[in-house]
Amino acid sequence: MTIKTVGILTGGGDCPGLNAVIRGVVRKGMNEYGFRFRGVQQGWRGMMEGVWEPLGSEEVSGILPRGGTILGTSRTNPYKTEDGGEIVIENMKRMKLDALIAIGGDDTLSVAQKLAASGAPVVGVPKTIDNDINNTDFTFGFDTAVNIVTEALDRIHTTAESHNRVMVVEVMGRHSGWIAVHSGIAGGADLILIPEQTPTIAEVIETIKKRHARGKSFSIIVVAEGVTFADDDYVVQESGTDEFGHVKLGGVGQLVSDVIEKETGFETRVTVLGHLQRGGTPTAFDRVLGTRYGIAAIDLVQRQDWGKMVALQGNQIVTIPLEDGIGELKMVDDDLYNIAKVFFG
Ligand code: F6P
Repeated sequence: MTIKTVGILTGGGDCPGLNAVIRGVVRKGMNEYGFRFRGVQQGWRGMMEGVWEPLGSEEVSGILPRGGTILGTSRTNPYKTEDGGEIVIENMKRMKLDALIAIGGDDTLSVAQKLAASGAPVVGVPKTIDNDINNTDFTFGFDTAVNIVTEALDRIHTTAESHNRVMVVEVMGRHSGWIAVHSGIAGGADLILIPEQTPTIAEVIETIKKRHARGKSFSIIVVAEGVTFADDDYVVQESGTDEFGHVKLGGVGQLVSDVIEKETGFETRVTVLGHLQRGGTPTAFDRVLGTRYGIAAIDLVQRQDWGKMVALQGNQIVTIPLEDGIGELKMVDDDLYNIAKVFFG
C-alpha cells in the first residue's frame, strides 16, 4: 500500500512538548516521505465526528516553544459508544487517512491498540506529564512539570521559613508519584507522599513533629494528588469520573494540611499547583524528546509497522508493541523513594 495521507491526533490531558512531536512528524513526513497531513481535532472526538484541519509547514511553523497542543484534545473514549471502533475506522476512510498517529497516555494508546488489533493502520506516541507509561523511561512534559514544581518549592521554602509554617504542596500524579518524588528531591522536601506508598496519618504527623523537635521551625511536604492513607478515617471525597472511568482528584493536600495543624498545633498552609504544572512552554529536554518521538513515529508509518508505539529506553528511541505500553503503569520504585526518604523529617 502506498501511504499518501496521514492523520495525527492528541488525546487525554495536554502536555508541554506535544507540539514538538507534531512538528517533527509533519516536517520529516512532508520533506522526506512526501506525505500530506490532516490534523484530527480534539483527540478521539475528532475521529468520532470526522473533524480535521489541514496540517502543513505553515501550521507547524513556530509551534516548538508553545505549550498545549495545536490540535486540541479531549478525554473522549470511542469504545464508550456502541460501534465506536467501527465509526472511527469508517471516518478514517472518509477522511482518506492511510495511517493515523495517536499521541497520548494509557487511555489514548489503549484505543489505538484496539483499533490496530482490528486491522486499522495506527501507531502511537506516549505522552503524560505523570511519566507512568510502561516500558518507556521518560515521557515529554514530565521534565517541564518537575521544573515548574521545583521552582514553586524553592519559592514556598522562603515564605515557610519566614513564617515558621508547615507548607503542604499538592502536585499532579493520579496513580504514580513521579512528579512528587523528582520535584521533592530537587526542591528539598521534608516529606513526600505518593500513591505507591500508603502511609498512615500518624506517621505523617510523627515525621513532622520529629523534625520540629530537632529545632526546625518549618516543613515542606509534597503530596501527590492520588495518595491514599492506610487509616480509613482519612479519605478524600471523589467527584465524578471521566469516560475512561478516572475519578476527579483533588483535596488530599487540604486534608493533610488540616490534620497536621490540628494534631501538631503548627501553623499550616496548602498550595495546590494543579494545571499550572501542565501549562506553558516546554523545557529544552521535552522539546528534544518530543522531536525524537515525532521523527521515530513517522518512520514507523513509512515502514507501515502498525500496532506499534515509540518509547525511550536508556537513551535510545525504540519501538514496542502498543500492548506493551498500556494496561500496567510504571510506578515509582523503592530505590528512588528510599533516596527521597533520606531527607525526610
Ligand atoms: O493524566 C495527566 C493528569 O495531569 C493527571 O496528573 C491529573 O490527575 C489529570 O491529568 C487531570 O486531568 P484534567 O486535566 O482532566 O483535570
